[in-house]
Amino acid sequence: MKKDHQKLIEEIKRLKQEKNAILLAHYYQVPEIQDLADVVGDSLGLSQQAARVRAGIIVFAGVHFMAETAKILSPDSKVLLPDMKAGCSLADSCPPQEFAAFKEKYPDHVVISYINCSAAIKAMSDVICTSSNAVQIVNSFPEDQPIIFAPDKNLGGYVNQVTGRNMVLWNGTCEVHDILSVEQIIRLKSEHPDAKLIAHPECKAQILALADFIGSTTALLKFTIRDSSRKYIVATETGILHPMKKASPDKEFFVVPSDQTCACNDCPYMKLNTVEKLYLCLKNEKPEIKLSGDLILKAKKPIERMLELS
Ligand code: 13P
Ligand code: SF4
Repeated sequence: MKKDHQKLIEEIKRLKQEKNAILLAHYYQVPEIQDLADVVGDSLGLSQQAARVRAGIIVFAGVHFMAETAKILSPDSKVLLPDMKAGCSLADSCPPQEFAAFKEKYPDHVVISYINCSAAIKAMSDVICTSSNAVQIVNSFPEDQPIIFAPDKNLGGYVNQVTGRNMVLWNGTCEVHDILSVEQIIRLKSEHPDAKLIAHPECKAQILALADFIGSTTALLKFTIRDSSRKYIVATETGILHPMKKASPDKEFFVVPSDQTCACNDCPYMKLNTVEKLYLCLKNEKPEIKLSGDLILKAKKPIERMLELS
């Protein structure tokens, strides 16, 4: 590691302490940011932390909807996101005006929204879920309750299959998970017949049908720790390999390439956060997430309902 880079890391540690700031990082962040974080987790774990922390400053090393959720749950804290352009294709696939019109077509349906959506969509929802608790949240409603599930059609389809429901699905996808290649999985499986395929539920149905285990990033990590296999084909974003290798250095992990010729299994939004931007964000206390009091109030209700049910 270069000397200047190491200096930045030391400065981040010092500023965190001096400013009473807590650093929350998602598993899809680069390894150096994960190693600097006070808490590393999946969307549910990080929301639970954000609801709990009493820090003047929360730096969210993740994407915009995650930092927004932290602001909604801890409105008195200053919430910072190292790069304001760190968005999410799934959240962007569900514009509030279009969703309001969609919702009007199903007046007797409750709305369950995946946390990967904007605060405006959350404010239009009855309850939020993450990939860790989607099945549990859906099952908290009576079997005959009509449901709209937004915005991820892959996760929604998976939950429909597990619960036997017929939820109406918004047509959104994650640009990283949706293009992971079935052909490459089949190739990897034939090269490593003893490897287990583990997949995030944002992957398309053909991949989930082949998977030995399906779960959120935390669930996938825990599975690789407790399971007795030595090899795993990992169908999710590459950031999760860092904690997996750290927890099980003697095991082998293979990432699934995408259908396209690019490093598409790296989320381009998550990877906008860098150590340099993290340092500047802590030093200058910006970019800051700002939301109106009214939106915070409306979006908080369905998130709190999820936290109570989880
Ligand atoms: P989880 O954090 O629930 O595993 O979801 C992954 C993801 O895509 C976050 O954007
Ligand atoms: Fe959004 Fe997909 Fe990136 Fe997660 S991995 S932040 S769902 S684009």
